[in-house]
Amino acid sequence: MNITVLPGDGIGPEVTREAIRVLTGVAFAFDLEVKIDEQLIGGVAIQENGTPFPDETRESCINSDAVFLGAVGSPEFDGLPPHERPEIGLLGLRQALGGFANLRPAKAVDALIDSSPLRPEIFKGTDLLIVRELLGGLYFGTPRGFDEGRTGGYNTMRYSVDEIERVARVAFEAALGRRKKVTSVDKANVLETSQIWRETVTRIAADYPDVELDHLFVDACAMHLVTAPTQFDVILTENLFGDILSDEAAVLTGSLGMLASATIGSDIGLYEPIHGSAPHIAGKNIANPLGTIASVGMLFRYSAKNEPAALAIEDAIESVLEDGYRTSDIAPPNCDKLVSTQEMGGFVLERAVENAQNKLARHAA
Ligand code: IPM
Ligand code: MG
Repeated sequence: MNITVLPGDGIGPEVTREAIRVLTGVAFAFDLEVKIDEQLIGGVAIQENGTPFPDETRESCINSDAVFLGAVGSPEFDGLPPHERPEIGLLGLRQALGGFANLRPAKAVDALIDSSPLRPEIFKGTDLLIVRELLGGLYFGTPRGFDEGRTGGYNTMRYSVDEIERVARVAFEAALGRRKKVTSVDKANVLETSQIWRETVTRIAADYPDVELDHLFVDACAMHLVTAPTQFDVILTENLFGDILSDEAAVLTGSLGMLASATIGSDIGLYEPIHGSAPHIAGKNIANPLGTIASVGMLFRYSAKNEPAALAIEDAIESVLEDGYRTSDIAPPNCDKLVSTQEMGGFVLERAVENAQNKLARHAA
């Protein structure tokens, strides 16, 4: 399998390095051949090539089976207009690959329950999946731009029934393999796009009689996430709402650094942690690589269709946390098992390969 790896900016390269170690280790254990092609994206690509999404990067990505991304964004480009910033590289990449459903799971891990900003009795047992529409809405809608003389600015939120239908199906399918509940999140009390969204999701729900559907306004959803997060199974929502709610869900698990994502819907899967480039801690070997490593798990699940490999990685992450190892973002005061980015990657790698070998041994027996 051919994988294009885009480490990107800030902490991207350091967390990606750990993730790729785990990827190659587990692939080897399962006898899967992987070929990795590393390319530039974001701020580093602007510096090297003058553009955040160079042609060479695009070529490599669209000829691969999966793309793995660290993070993009760098404060040195803060003054630039949106269409010249590093982030446009990521948006261009998402468009080029065509995956429209971004899956962002957030789960309460018992070992980390005290790192959650929520009281344990509220957060314990939370296990939800955000299905975020990734190619529409305000991120891509036109017209967009600035008014003359920068006296204002405008963006367009537009959703077609087709765009809503395809992502809704992903959410209902996902729910069938989980607790069979979809919460569709919109702002139908104010927005036309949300009314179309709600009508369409309700219509698609008829094809999934075993799945319970409810609707929430986005402001209420934001509140329920912190007051009663265990009520959620699958949260289905549009691009910007999903961006915001997934940061909120992530931080409930203890740290933004914990969450993985997979973008599906096209032949080429895109895998990335949900966190950004965190420039303030870049290069210090302290960033949490677990969200990035968990994204490797999702790559095995959705692109390699190798569920045992995905589980080997997910188990490894949980067991390393159970053993008490913590990067600084999830460490309690006076933590005696405070580890670096690299050490954390090493522990997960070791455990994941062990899991893989055990699974294979059990299979052979
Ligand atoms: C994310 C990020 C990106 C987004 C940024 C970096 C463009 O916040 O993946 O959630 O808004 O989609
Ligand atoms: Mg985001």
